[in-house]
Amino acid sequence: MKVKSTETAVTIQPTENGSLAVTGLENLRDSRGEALPTKAKIYLCRCGGSSNKPFCDGSHKRNGFSGARESSASLDREKAYPGKQITVHDNRAICSHSERCVKELAAVFSKKARPWVNPDGASPEGIVALVKRCPSGALSYSIEGTQQRDFTREPQIIVSKNGPYNVTGGIVIQNELQPPSSEHYSLCRCGASKNKPFCDGMHHTIGFRDDQI
Ligand code: FES
Repeated sequence: MKVKSTETAVTIQPTENGSLAVTGLENLRDSRGEALPTKAKIYLCRCGGSSNKPFCDGSHKRNGFSGARESSASLDREKAYPGKQITVHDNRAICSHSERCVKELAAVFSKKARPWVNPDGASPEGIVALVKRCPSGALSYSIEGTQQRDFTREPQIIVSKNGPYNVTGGIVIQNELQPPSSEHYSLCRCGASKNKPFCDGMHHTIGFRDDQI
């Protein structure tokens, strides 16, 4: 079920070669769940260079940050893994590589197995709960032919530890390319994603660190 932005009036605007301008957000949290200060309009760093993370301090103007997406690939590379009671769908094009799936439900998601998803490896309820914890929207599921990708949650942005902004609650992103799930997605804040404004896991590759969060 999609949460309509018109109810929340919360929006994210990736500014050209600059910050994420966020309007109307009341719930901004760090990776420990602690509330961070917010107001009618805030500017979140997405170049990775701010000394005041997660907020922008203008560093993008000095470090040559480009907000351009370096890929022309579709955001739809979804593959289905049918099981007896549930089908797991995986979209590699939007994955932020949080690895919650392989760490928290290894009986279903394993990098060493082929195929890497075994939808019969856990109960449907356990898989549904895990899919809800996938921050990027890469995972979704179908039961009896109905696909569930979006959930009903409050508008919120979580600043993850050394990783992306995890957005939930149907916050509209004012971007030409829309995420597969309009309810939740992960936005790059290290500056290195080739799939901007979305996170593609490059924060791992570059060793992005944010000691302030
Ligand atoms: S935060 Fe994940 S690629 Fe930048």
